[in-house]
Amino acid sequence: MLADWSNIPRRNWLRDGEVEFHIAALLGDGVGPEVATEAIRVLQAVGQKFGHNFHFHHGLIGGTAIDVHGVALTEEKLEMCRSCDAVLLGAVGGPKWDDPKAKVRPEDGLLALRKELGLFANLRPVKVLPMLVNSTTLKPEVIKNVDLMVVRELTGGLYFGQPKKQWHSPEGRLAVDTMAYSEQEVERIVRVGFEIALMRRKKLTSVDKANVLESSRLWRQVATEVSADYPNVELEHMLVDACAMRLIQRPSQFDVIVTENTFGDILTDEASMLAGSMGMLPSASLAGIPRGSTSKAFGMYEPIHGSAPSRAGQNIANPIATILSAAMMLRYSFNLVTEAEAVEKAVVAVLEDGYRTYDIMEEGKCKVGTREMGQLIAERITKEDKT
Ligand code: IPM
Ligand code: MG
Repeated sequence: MLADWSNIPRRNWLRDGEVEFHIAALLGDGVGPEVATEAIRVLQAVGQKFGHNFHFHHGLIGGTAIDVHGVALTEEKLEMCRSCDAVLLGAVGGPKWDDPKAKVRPEDGLLALRKELGLFANLRPVKVLPMLVNSTTLKPEVIKNVDLMVVRELTGGLYFGQPKKQWHSPEGRLAVDTMAYSEQEVERIVRVGFEIALMRRKKLTSVDKANVLESSRLWRQVATEVSADYPNVELEHMLVDACAMRLIQRPSQFDVIVTENTFGDILTDEASMLAGSMGMLPSASLAGIPRGSTSKAFGMYEPIHGSAPSRAGQNIANPIATILSAAMMLRYSFNLVTEAEAVEKAVVAVLEDGYRTYDIMEEGKCKVGTREMGQLIAERITKEDKT
């Protein structure tokens, strides 16, 4: 029997026309605070323009939380996130906390949020904007027209499966991680893939390693079973190694890709290169299945890039990935589609005007810093006519 995944406890109270929104803002480490501050600036511009009040509730996460509290996320801040309508996250991690023997790691905070808030569905859209076609390392003819969405399972697989440990044996040290999936876990994420595909070009590629892994064989069976409910979506199965190849060989063939946690982690870093820079790619991690235009799933929103410690504190990081993540928040958690589009259009307009951060810089363009890019996008939203 299928569970009703559309019954999400958190956002059910959200009334149509709601104007008050509470957002947990966990800025994190490295460039995290710089890029997230620009996303907040942009959300404030949206609020002023469209008449919403976005309230930001700040908290520490990652290495900065370890330095102050000894843990990467306190119970209190986890509760704060639970009581908000959505979470905006910068990035976590850095060399200071990278010791493999460390008892606590910045990433623990992020993983705890994903697990504790039930954020099983990670949406990572990869769209190549025409004006950036030349800023990638791939040939323009290969990447033009790329518009795909990776749906990554986020609370299972190797990241959370038990046993997960390191130990000493008489023969030497041993370690184990476990890739485990229940059919319910597979079913709900595959359904997200189908629902997203329905809203797009109606093609779903389910990626696994069914020629070797038992968990992948279950994945493939469940995906095939669920496809019976979606006769209008074309389902194909693809092995993860083949998918890695296809992503750089013919990326425009993909519409929606659905895959397990670790495969999705690796494939999305690869896919991000299609868009020119990790600094361009947003993500949404949802606790429910988005359905059409009535999406009010609780979610966490963050850029797919990391904390980039070597770029931190210099006002150079590209804030667009985080700003586009804020647009995803408007769309998927608050059901504010016009507002989301206003942000996306403003990003395109500023790029069309020739402004670039260092990571997407080309000759003849105007190089700007993190703050300037955020300001330009916010101003654009303020100035544009409401559509
Ligand atoms: C990502 C990141 C994280 C992950 C790290 C920071 C734990 O690489 O969101 O892709 O592996 O999921
Ligand atoms: Mg990753």
